[in-house]
Amino acid sequence: MMSILLLLLLPISSSQQTEFFYAGFSNSSDANTNTNTNISLNGVAEIEDNGILRLTNETSRLIGRAFYPIPLPFKNSTSASVFSFSTCFAFAIVPEYPKLGGHGFAFVISTSSSLPGALPSQYLGLLNATDNGNATNHVFAVEFDTVQDFEFGDINDNHVGIDINSMTSNVSKAAAYFSDDFTKQDLNLKGGDTIQAWIDYDAVSKVLNVTIAPSSTKPTIPLISFPVDLSPILHDNMFVGFSASTGLLASSHYLFGWNFKMNGVARSLDLSSLPSLPKPPKKNTSFVIAISITSVVFVIVVVSSAAYLFYKIKNADVIESWELECGPHRFSYKELKRATKGFRDRELLGFGGFGKVYKGTLPGSKEEVAVKRVSHESRQGIREFVAEIASIGRLRHRNLVQLQGWCRRRGDLILVYDYMPNGSLDKYLFSDPETQQPPKPLLSWRQRFHILKGIASALLYLHEEWEHIVIHRDVKASNVLLDGELNGRLGDFGLAKLYEHGANPSTTRVVGTLGYLAPELTRTGKSTTSSDVFAFGAVVLEVVCGRRPIEPKALPEELVLVDWVWGLWAAGKWEDVVDPRLNMDYDRKEVELALKVGLSCSHPAASARPRMRDVVRYLDGGEVPEVRSPPEEYEGKSQVGFDDYVHSYPSSSFEKVSSQCSVAVGAGEAVVAVDNRNEVGPFGYAPLALLSRGMNA
Ligand SMILES: *[C@@H]1O[C@H](CO)[C@@H](O)[C@H](O)[C@H]1NC(C)=O
Ligand SMILES: *[C@@H]1O[C@H](CO)[C@@H](O)[C@H](O)[C@H]1NC(C)=O
Ligand SMILES: *[C@@H]1O[C@H](CO)[C@@H](O)[C@H](O)[C@H]1NC(C)=O
Ligand SMILES: *[C@@H]1O[C@H](CO)[C@@H](O)[C@H](O)[C@H]1NC(C)=O
Ligand SMILES: *[C@@H]1O[C@H](CO)[C@@H](O)[C@H](O)[C@H]1NC(C)=O
Ligand SMILES: *[C@@H]1O[C@H](CO)[C@@H](O)[C@H](O)[C@H]1NC(C)=O
Ligand SMILES: *[C@@H]1O[C@H](CO)[C@@H](O)[C@H](O)[C@H]1NC(C)=O
Ligand SMILES: *[C@@H]1O[C@H](CO)[C@@H](O)[C@H](O)[C@H]1NC(C)=O
Repeated sequence: MMSILLLLLLPISSSQQTEFFYAGFSNSSDANTNTNTNISLNGVAEIEDNGILRLTNETSRLIGRAFYPIPLPFKNSTSASVFSFSTCFAFAIVPEYPKLGGHGFAFVISTSSSLPGALPSQYLGLLNATDNGNATNHVFAVEFDTVQDFEFGDINDNHVGIDINSMTSNVSKAAAYFSDDFTKQDLNLKGGDTIQAWIDYDAVSKVLNVTIAPSSTKPTIPLISFPVDLSPILHDNMFVGFSASTGLLASSHYLFGWNFKMNGVARSLDLSSLPSLPKPPKKNTSFVIAISITSVVFVIVVVSSAAYLFYKIKNADVIESWELECGPHRFSYKELKRATKGFRDRELLGFGGFGKVYKGTLPGSKEEVAVKRVSHESRQGIREFVAEIASIGRLRHRNLVQLQGWCRRRGDLILVYDYMPNGSLDKYLFSDPETQQPPKPLLSWRQRFHILKGIASALLYLHEEWEHIVIHRDVKASNVLLDGELNGRLGDFGLAKLYEHGANPSTTRVVGTLGYLAPELTRTGKSTTSSDVFAFGAVVLEVVCGRRPIEPKALPEELVLVDWVWGLWAAGKWEDVVDPRLNMDYDRKEVELALKVGLSCSHPAASARPRMRDVVRYLDGGEVPEVRSPPEEYEGKSQVGFDDYVHSYPSSSFEKVSSQCSVAVGAGEAVVAVDNRNEVGPFGYAPLALLSRGMNA
């Protein structure tokens, strides 16, 4: 009844009949103000000779916008309800490198046509990190996005989405259209072809439809049909237009025509009558091969060389433009294959949480290297990661395992590090639970203290002394490697990040190893320098006590190393915690100092932990840290906070999978599934990832 009434009212209320057509765009400018009167341009947007509007070109980090010059009345001022509207436009996206879009564009309705403060890249020139998601933005957009941003939960790198005040889409669909026989056809937004998009909002049913197709006729089934009331989002007068942006990767975004109608249906554009991009010269792909008896030999030669070529191409390293910018550290796959004798199992140094590590000898210099092969599905993760590796490759410190370079081949990322002949620290501290192999030769207290000081100075360098703050994220004994002179060197920095980038967007994955994870990580999901300090504290206690941070086989009160040490420390019996294998042969003052440092770094409250700068000062004998006892509520619960799930990485990269065991932690309320798999090898245990749902860091 109500809707019939509204329908009857509709013809009256449709007095607002704003409508405009663009079949191509023009430069007609107002001589006085020197502004384009046909369409108002902003950023790098330009109109080309043939009437094509180019929002961005293929340069990085640009924003280009085009808006209808005057704001349109979107609301009936007496009833405050939004009008129905309908629009269609023709666009094309031509990426700089085929298949790699950057970043996309959006149809926008906003209060301003210049959107001050907005960012390029994933923000599409619409919002920035501060105002993203704020209801005061009054920005409505339909995005045509060609990059998958995990940050905003993008579904893929070719989608259409509806964004309300936020870059996280309220709904999004992979780009596609329904053909006449109602079958769904995929559509590539960044294929360079002209695509028409229709956006229709019905103010009565409050449904917004988005339809795309590579044609002049509108498919009957929309791609997206989203129930939404735009009244709270739109003001009385709003600008309509487009905004496009480029990031590290770039595309040219073009518009060829645009129709808009308030309270009516916009006429579809006839694509054939619009200007179009010059077609790139088509390669002639038709071959005619005549085979005569005498040419059989020739054909065999051709076929076999083609097969060889195909093999070569198939196995070629994947080199993309953004990698070439990253400096000289790229190895060829062939070189690394030769260095490791074809990634032979005999060259295997071990398995780490991130992949297998091989020993290799570089063919040219005969230099020994450790070659780590990381498998990763997500190409997006890899892209960001390589950019990060490029900067990490510039880190230089005597207590860091030097990254010499990398290589990428299909899903594999191969990292080349300096070879550390003495392996990892954990092998010297405890026996391998898997093989029952006894620990390597005993490290004296002096050697242990020297190693700790080295690691502390490496972390200080990462946190404070380099040009950017680098957070290691996976500090642990098995990531501390020993060089020929038994100097401690920190390895694997930044690797954990790869898994954060690649993580399922709807979850936040905390990367690290159980026993080294700071309690606040489970809440915030954000690694910080003080979560690295916490992990360093665990390493210090391990080195002093010769025990793992979590010992599943131990008595319940000894399960968590920090808690056990705390107990004995508080009781004044700190000497009971010192590794019995040292046979009381140590400098009492140094051991006591190390325990104090270990305990203060392991404080459950991040703010109570020292910074690495202080730690280095303490270890150098400057002063003695004050050990603050943890507050009541933390007591015996250093590892509690695991109210979410603790998962291990998928075991595909591991050879051995042993059983999991459940361990009751602390007061016995939190039950954590601990993956009891301590992998052999210089690069670590199997890191445990903590999946906590509903957090969007
Ligand atoms: C606004 O709505 C009122 C009643 O709902 C109607 O009488 C009026 O004509 C409308 N105005 C416009 C501009 O549509
Ligand atoms: C802008 O120019 C195009 C192409 O010349 C024309 O089709 C369109 O009507 C013009 N629009 C306005 C609002 O001036
Ligand atoms: C793209 O546009 C910007 C700004 O107009 C200009 O500086 C740059 O040279 C252009 N790049 C290309 C590849 O044309
Ligand atoms: C529009 O302006 C650009 C420079 O801003 C110029 O290169 C182009 O020729 C002009 N196009 C038309 C159709 O006048
Ligand atoms: C973000 O955009 C708003 C306007 O929407 C602006 O006021 C603010 O300064 C911008 N923030 C940054 C950090 O640029
Ligand atoms: C949203 O923006 C307004 C004004 O810019 C600001 O006062 C408010 O704190 C912001 N809200 C949030 C949640 O950031
Ligand atoms: C759209 O998403 C934003 C946050 O991303 C949310 O605040 C808003 O309620 C959503 N709107 C609708 C209609 O779902
Ligand atoms: C939106 O699409 C649905 C079909 O999915 C259709 O029934 C409805 O009329 C459409 N609305 C508009 C405003 O085009």
